[in-house]
Amino acid sequence: MRQTKKRDSWGTRLGIIMAVAGSAIGLGNFLRFPAKAATNGGGAFMIPYFISLVLLGIPLMWIEWTLGRYGGGFEHGTAPGIFHSIWQKNRFIKYFGIIGIFGPLVIFIYYAFIESWTLAYSFFALTGKYTSLTDQNSLRSFLAGFQGLERNQYFNGIGTAYTFFIITFLLNIWVIYYGIKGGIEKLCKWALPLLFVFGLLLAIRVVTLGIPDLNKPDWNVSGGFGFLWNPDFSALLSAKVWLAAAGQIFFTLSVGIGVILTYASYLKKADDVVLSGLTAATTNEVAEIIIGGSIVIPAAFVFFGPHDVQAIARSGVFNLGFVTMPAVLNKLPLAGLLGFAWFFLLFLAGITSSVSLAQPAVAFLEDEFNINRSKAVSIFGVAAFILCQPAIFFLGHGVVDELDFWGGTFFLVIFATIETILFAWVFGMEKAWDEIHKGADMRVPGFYKFIIKYITPLFLFIILGMWFVQEWLPIIIMKNVPSADKPFVLGTRIGLLFIFVILAVLVKIAWSKRKLWKKEIK
Ligand code: ALA
Repeated sequence: MRQTKKRDSWGTRLGIIMAVAGSAIGLGNFLRFPAKAATNGGGAFMIPYFISLVLLGIPLMWIEWTLGRYGGGFEHGTAPGIFHSIWQKNRFIKYFGIIGIFGPLVIFIYYAFIESWTLAYSFFALTGKYTSLTDQNSLRSFLAGFQGLERNQYFNGIGTAYTFFIITFLLNIWVIYYGIKGGIEKLCKWALPLLFVFGLLLAIRVVTLGIPDLNKPDWNVSGGFGFLWNPDFSALLSAKVWLAAAGQIFFTLSVGIGVILTYASYLKKADDVVLSGLTAATTNEVAEIIIGGSIVIPAAFVFFGPHDVQAIARSGVFNLGFVTMPAVLNKLPLAGLLGFAWFFLLFLAGITSSVSLAQPAVAFLEDEFNINRSKAVSIFGVAAFILCQPAIFFLGHGVVDELDFWGGTFFLVIFATIETILFAWVFGMEKAWDEIHKGADMRVPGFYKFIIKYITPLFLFIILGMWFVQEWLPIIIMKNVPSADKPFVLGTRIGLLFIFVILAVLVKIAWSKRKLWKKEIK
């Protein structure tokens, strides 16, 4: 007969809150958020951002915590099993759940590599390898040399970057190997407070920059904050700004990905999800808006002026983090230490997110194939290591952008839509409302019943609709991809399809085995 293993569990309530907050607070808060805000009109972006937080982010947070805890009661830690527990009569729903393993895995493939750059740059800051470079052009070629995109006076190939990638990858595997309580919870409990210390230190340094160039008195800190916070209501009419704001809410809160489902599946039946979910979301927003919003944009504004801020942000999140910020910090006293604080902050933010991205795949193998953790982590480690290679070696050919579009944007919205429908309409809002409040330390305001049932799904359908109308065709036909990169982008798509099919086959096998076990138990 099938012997089920005892599933891992969280040590403390603070532990799971910090783990979910750690998953949410990531490179998205400190790099993606400033870039999105700056390129979408600064203050204009913030209104759709807050509306999306209230109508999409917070409801989805509660939905995922509740569905996860519910599925955990059936020993399912990932979406195929959780969706099946909700809608047992539907034979196909488990296949929709594959997105909840596929999405995080795809994000992990490129996220781990970028995270490794932050570790490398922390080390370079301390050893003074780039601290004498104060102009953006030199720092740009330093980055390109490091990434292996060109050979120059700074780097002679991708060797250094690859070494740091291996170290980062092994650190991730090490944490996951020690499990939920012994690895992830322990990491987040020390990494998160340290991250806030570094973040506050940098924010205070930026706020006290004053007017570095007296010939340009308008380039000051309050101008930088004004850029982000002065509202511009005309942008509310732009579909593009709404899409960017909603997309950022998904990415930053880690909702629609599948990781919160998995984390919450290790809760006990009577553990609170309402207050815990809200606390994790609030912690993320503090890190994003207060700290993330006070570092890159004001700093870039003060040194490069209002016009260049937008241009720099448009040139991409990597430029903002790895070129503009070092250029600013290198102009200040104690540049090495400030640079270390910046990149180590990013590294801590990154690793507490990447371990969460790995967990659904590991939990899927453990729960649905009944294998032990070390075996599951080994299988994940080998597969993920191989899958990371194209993102590393074809970085300059649009592979990362392609992975980010499917794993980090498109499927998030699809997955969130499925979850919301299942929760509010299949499970049923009355039952769902009872389920949310089991063991709850506070009640969800009554109007959220209406929001979750009608507004959130409607909002998601509108976003999807706008996407199809505005962006679908150009993306499918690779309209904006340079010809030289087209084979790489196509290759990435075929690879993604292959991963999806493999996961579908695994789900099929797992469920056939389940039938056998059930017969044996009878
Ligand atoms: N939520 C994570 C981030 O913001 C993925 O980076």
